[in-house]
Amino acid sequence: MTDSSKKCRIVILISGRGSNMQSIVETIKKKQLAAEVVAVIANKADALGIQWAQEQGLVTEVLEHKAFASRQQFDDQLATVIQTYQPDYVLLAGFMRILSPSFVEQFDGKLINIHPSLLPLFPGLNTHQQALDAQLQWHGCTVHFVTAVLDHGPIIAQGIVPVQQEDDETSLAGRLLAIEHRVYNEVLQWLVEGRVRLLETGRVQVDGVAHRAFAL
Ligand code: GRF
Repeated sequence: MTDSSKKCRIVILISGRGSNMQSIVETIKKKQLAAEVVAVIANKADALGIQWAQEQGLVTEVLEHKAFASRQQFDDQLATVIQTYQPDYVLLAGFMRILSPSFVEQFDGKLINIHPSLLPLFPGLNTHQQALDAQLQWHGCTVHFVTAVLDHGPIIAQGIVPVQQEDDETSLAGRLLAIEHRVYNEVLQWLVEGRVRLLETGRVQVDGVAHRAFAL
């Protein structure tokens, strides 16, 4: 985004409670970023975040993956729906679907995910328990460009929280969520300001930002 007269158009994909989506929507309101959430799309009708988004007066869509015969058919339809909103960025925020290579390719450089681990550690599910089992003393989250490989891709920013002796999965996930919101919102700000560049080397550069690391 370089044209300052134009608002950055954002589509957010969710599957559940959508707290990352909520914090992004609230940040846009508060900071008056030149960004607009043009649609929130869920793959489940009972996603709690969809209800919240509707209450905020946002445009919402539900596209139930279960209604499609194959992953490819769902992804093709999802891509078609997203394209109608002409987004500058598509943010995955607790969107629990593996996306097909053709989908990812279609949104190359525009598709961003948050994952609750310090990638490349612990792609996939149960990241908090895996961090506990490994006796890590730090747990973290990663915001990254999406590639066709699950929970993989050029890293834009990471955040860390300490793991405490008495932690279980729930307490650790809760502590991490606070930093997830912070990291995703910082990245959003950089995106809106047009500072995030995906270099040909596959590395990320954020103009004017030396450290893309956050801690509680
Ligand atoms: C977050 O930990 C997110 O990183 C992960 O799923 C969780 C969803 O949280 N992928 P929410 O739906 O944004 O509240």
